[in-house]
Amino acid sequence: MYIQVNLKEHSYPVRIEKHALCHLSDLIDVNRRMAIISDSQVPQQWIDIVRKQCPHSIVLRFPAGEASKSFRQYENLLKELIQAHFTRKDAIIALGGGVTGDLAGFVAATYMRGIDFYNIPTTLLAQVDSSVGGKVAIDVDAYKNIVGAFWQPKAVIIDPDVLTTLPDRQIHNGLAEALKTGLIMDPALIDLFEQEPLPIEQIILRSIQVKADVVSQDEKEAGLRKILNFGHTIGHALESDYGLNTYLHGECVAMGMLFFIEDPLLKQRVLSIYQRLDLPNVPDYDVERIMERMLHDKKNSGKTISVVKVPKAGTFRIDEMDMDSLRQVLERGPYEK
Ligand SMILES: NC(=O)c1ccc[n+]([C@@H]2O[C@H](COP(=O)([O-])OP(=O)(O)OC[C@H]3O[C@@H](n4cnc5c(N)ncnc54)[C@H](O)[C@@H]3O)[C@@H](O)[C@H]2O)c1
Ligand SMILES: [Zn+2]
Repeated sequence: MYIQVNLKEHSYPVRIEKHALCHLSDLIDVNRRMAIISDSQVPQQWIDIVRKQCPHSIVLRFPAGEASKSFRQYENLLKELIQAHFTRKDAIIALGGGVTGDLAGFVAATYMRGIDFYNIPTTLLAQVDSSVGGKVAIDVDAYKNIVGAFWQPKAVIIDPDVLTTLPDRQIHNGLAEALKTGLIMDPALIDLFEQEPLPIEQIILRSIQVKADVVSQDEKEAGLRKILNFGHTIGHALESDYGLNTYLHGECVAMGMLFFIEDPLLKQRVLSIYQRLDLPNVPDYDVERIMERMLHDKKNSGKTISVVKVPKAGTFRIDEMDMDSLRQVLERGPYEK
């Protein structure tokens, strides 16, 4: 199954299929020189499958974890490419989760002013969300994604088989971002979360379909693409405030969404889904510190913050909120009906 991201000369295909990992040459010229970039915990078996198909590749690994979206790891990877005499004609394959995609993508965007980049996401979060759209970035201190670029991949290859090695917590983390997509745009995607067993492949497909449509209409987040930040305003602030290792990104997005689901019945439905997915409750937070973090978020300018709200399943509206109204939302808490 193929989904196309339509961005004129930057258009690219997303292949979503079991065993796609074993058929890279359908989408990638495997005879190029390529750097396969993965973190230290991506299972070796997936790396081997990719490497065997790319005879002129090198494998570069960096320590797993959000802390690697840093200048230090970014610089290390650049130096390794220089040492291996990589040129503008060579390419990068990101093989891993969102951290790998964001870091390797930023390396691709900037090495020699930009080289080709392929994304092969291996976490569910990356498969339903981060691998498509071309946002690549690193963090500075606790400020997430504060330095980055828009750099579209040449192709994205999503193989649900790689999820067989992924721990449950990571699966649920990815499902939270997929649910986000359903809540803003696709009621039928929300329904999938209530099926037994969870139809993961359909969830991936529908999420990527929505993401591809949104990105095709607004590559650089001038307007519509902002809706994908639903749950992220407070979510990012909580993620930073608790340190980057306490909660996972999708878990924080799930928390952040609760504050802005306006229909009480929908909120109840979402809370039942969270329970099914074992997502953590929103922890205690210090209102002033969260306010401070939100103000520093790069998407915010001046006296108001753009917040995405969901009035009904599959719909959104964007609200410019002033500081007092936001403070009230935080003081009221996420579970208020
Ligand atoms: N660029 C975007 O549009 C975008 C969108 C959403 C999130 N993100 C970013 O994505 C990051 C989070 O990504 P993530 O949740 O994928 O985390 P991650 O990349 O850290 O992966 C989680 C863990 O799973 C391991 N792993 C990866 N694949 C595996 C597999 N198949 N089997 C077993 N283990 C595996 C990794 O080694 C890592 O330890 C955050 O930095 C977030 O900011 C980016
Ligand atoms: Zn996200």
